[in-house]
Order: sequence, then structure tokens, then C-alpha cells
Amino acid sequence: MPNLRIHPTGEVVHLEPGDTILGGLFKAGYAYTVGCRRGGCAICKVDLLEGEFAYNRPVADSVITEEESTDGTCLSCRAVPVSDVTIEMRDACLRLVNPFLRQINEKARQRAEALAAGTTNKE
Ligand code: FES
Repeated sequence: MPNLRIHPTGEVVHLEPGDTILGGLFKAGYAYTVGCRRGGCAICKVDLLEGEFAYNRPVADSVITEEESTDGTCLSCRAVPVSDVTIEMRDACLRLVNPFLRQINEKARQRAEALAAGTTNKE
């Protein structure tokens, strides 16, 4: 299961299979300015610095231009990481609004890493 790293703060969020970048961040207790959440308004664009993603549904050319589709621009409400990814927010400010969800996400990330390493960590 991929991890999402935020540049330049270095925060790491654990994603479940099929999570979009926006959905994973919200489930982990973060928030930022978004609009339609359906791929239509383009407010949720972030920059992909590392890793790969796929769109869970087609994105209109009027939302992501042909140039943007190759320069790392990522529509966070539609983009599903297929590897560990590093993103940088644009104008939007990422805020931690629910520290409890953040803690749950961090535990899930630690469990996933322990499983991947072949160890178990029962807390
Ligand atoms: S929130 Fe509208 S396109 Fe992502």
C-alpha cells in the first residue's frame, strides 16, 4: 500500500488501496481547499515530485491540459497513487484538522511497514 509524502514538511500519510490523494489526506485528518471533489473544477491540483498515479476516472482536457498531464500536475481528487508518491501543495495550505485520525493513520502505516518487513508489531 503506497505512502504519500508531503514536500517540504516531510509528513507521511498511509494510503489504502484505491485511495485518491485527496481522500487519503482527508481520512488521515488533513484538510485543504477543494471544490467539487469530482474532477471538474481544478482547484485541487498539486504537483507530483516523485512516484506514479493513475486517474480513477477520465479527466477532461479542460481540467488537465495536455502539457499538465506530462509536467507532474496532479488532480488530487481523482489521482490514485500506484507507488509511493511525494507531492507539493500549490496555493492551498494543508492543515491538520483531526489529530486523532492522524494517529490512527500513523499506526496503520507502522503496521503496514512491519508486515512488509516480515515482522509483527502487536500494540
Ligand atoms: S476538487 Fe474539483 S477537480 Fe478536484
